[in-house]
Amino acid sequence: MRSHYCGELNESLIGQEIQLAGWVNRRRDHGGVIFIDLRDREGLAQIVFDPDRAEPFEIAEHVRSEYVLGIKGLVRERPEGTINEDMPTGKVEVLISEVEVLNRAKTPPFMIDDDGMGEDIRLRYRYVDLRRPVMQQRMKLRAAVTRHIRNYLDSNGFLDIETPMLTRATPEGARDYLVPSRTHPGEFFALPQSPQLFKQLLMVSGMDRYYQVVRCFRDEDLRADRQPEFTQLDIETAFLNEEQIMGLMEDMVRGLFKEVLGTELPDQFQQMSYDEAMRRYGSDRPDLRVSLELIDVADLMTEVDFKVFSGPANDPNGRVAALCLPGGNSLSRKDIDGYTKFVSIYGARGLAYIKVNDVEGGRDGLQSPIVKFLPDDTIAGILERTGANSGDLIFFGADKAKVVNEALGALRVKVGEDRGLMSAEWKPLWVVDFPMFDWDEKSDRWNAIHHPFTAPNSDQLGMMDSEPGKVYSRAYDMILNGSEIGGGSIRIHDPETQESVLKVLGIGDEEAQDKFGFLLDALKYGCPPHGGMAFGLDRLVMLMAGADSIRDVMAFPKTQSANCLLTGAPDRVSDHQLRELNIRLRKVQKAE
Ligand code: AMO
Ligand code: AMP
Repeated sequence: MRSHYCGELNESLIGQEIQLAGWVNRRRDHGGVIFIDLRDREGLAQIVFDPDRAEPFEIAEHVRSEYVLGIKGLVRERPEGTINEDMPTGKVEVLISEVEVLNRAKTPPFMIDDDGMGEDIRLRYRYVDLRRPVMQQRMKLRAAVTRHIRNYLDSNGFLDIETPMLTRATPEGARDYLVPSRTHPGEFFALPQSPQLFKQLLMVSGMDRYYQVVRCFRDEDLRADRQPEFTQLDIETAFLNEEQIMGLMEDMVRGLFKEVLGTELPDQFQQMSYDEAMRRYGSDRPDLRVSLELIDVADLMTEVDFKVFSGPANDPNGRVAALCLPGGNSLSRKDIDGYTKFVSIYGARGLAYIKVNDVEGGRDGLQSPIVKFLPDDTIAGILERTGANSGDLIFFGADKAKVVNEALGALRVKVGEDRGLMSAEWKPLWVVDFPMFDWDEKSDRWNAIHHPFTAPNSDQLGMMDSEPGKVYSRAYDMILNGSEIGGGSIRIHDPETQESVLKVLGIGDEEAQDKFGFLLDALKYGCPPHGGMAFGLDRLVMLMAGADSIRDVMAFPKTQSANCLLTGAPDRVSDHQLRELNIRLRKVQKAE
């Protein structure tokens, strides 16, 4: 039905008879002449309907927005004065010779060139929303990303291997999506949170280098960068150490940015330990586009009368940190109240501050609700350590370290953004040297910071039983502009270490055998040293597209409350289906 895409028209086609097919983007009736902008995946073309040609003209009089047309016509130069420089095909137009209405369309729920539509209506009519050029660009970008990745991995000896969707629970830390088994009443499959265990088994099988662009399922609280089903670029290799794996991954990402975006990323990505990232940025995925840093001041506060500061300063799990904002004393009371509210989302109970009007002026040079509580030497210490200058503002966080890190960690990015302190560069980073475990106060037990198959540092194995909190792992996360785009590790490849890690996590021998017996067995049948990584493909594409949410780079995403507005899923099923699956629903509402 077509010889060219609308968006392909250019001056080289002048004088040629061509065929196009697409949607009516806009119809303009200029008295004597009708113009239709026809749209397809590649762009717009202007079609001219002259009243001289009665048949097409009559049809054009009746077409409406989003009708699907097939046309034949002659490409010609636009007359002087009608060239549209904003339109890539704006130097030419098509003089119609034949037109066929391939389909009619109801008035669309929103206009294709309206960028201001609410997300609910966009998701409800996603097939219309995806016609918008920006969405088509994003889908093309996504395809370009997977194309590049596949080429890169293929040329580096990786095999694309599929793994099951109907499987056992995999412990990545979220809730599972379960699928009832009809043939085994009362039993359930879990949809994979990741192919973690299967890819390790593939290494035991000698596949050596594996990858898969694979859907993963996690029932967790959703955010702009989290969906219940999302796509990982999943990778595993045997006989490589962490430097070699990170080198390959870095090379892949660098090539990807160069080829797809024309952007040069650094020759070598910066590496930072988890401890340093937490200390300087309050986050294990620091956004290095903002250079502001957290500065520890607890040691200056241990003796002060102000309990808000001295309490956490004397608590081994506490932290008192400062964040100096250059030029920040121009912030208004209202701005500061806004930031105080912002940090309260992270559990902060306040946001103390000092405005430094004159750094040489002693107390009189400062404006603050808290300096009255602080002795001179503490104040001098704060000014010195933060390097504050006249005109700056210093924020303070004092609480459990976790609260201070989250609150000031988020605040540094927020004020950085608000105050124009965010650099426009791409800032990739490896975070390395993670602790193996962190203590979960709520459930009173150790949690794996990555997953339980991550290898501990071999020279710290001795502390596994006595001081698990001091054992570090061989994990690495790739961070880009404050987003965790991927994570991986060297894995445990001997059953004894695997059992000891499961034990720290409170998984005893019996449970380990029951849940992970197949893995523990496999480790006994000649398992090579191995390691790998998984990228969040949606997050990577979101960043590359400059989108705010991964929903904008997924064709059919779910809403914040994990449903699909297009299809209406999830939905009730028939009693018959439930009976077949041996499921009885408790009556939600009693019949009247
Ligand atoms: P992890 O759990 O860190 O590691 O997941 C890898 C990457 O997947 C992305 N991601 C998500 N993206 C969108 N929505 C979600 N709900 C979501 N959850 C995670 C993130 C993350 O970095 N098996 C290990 C990897 C390994 O060790 O090889 C794993 O799944 O970008
Ligand atoms: P208050 O004594 O509660 O009026 O607090 C005095 C100042 O300390 C106010 O500016 C509060 O915002 C701030 N503040 C209170 N709690 C904290 C905290 N945990 N961390 C940082 N600042 C705090």
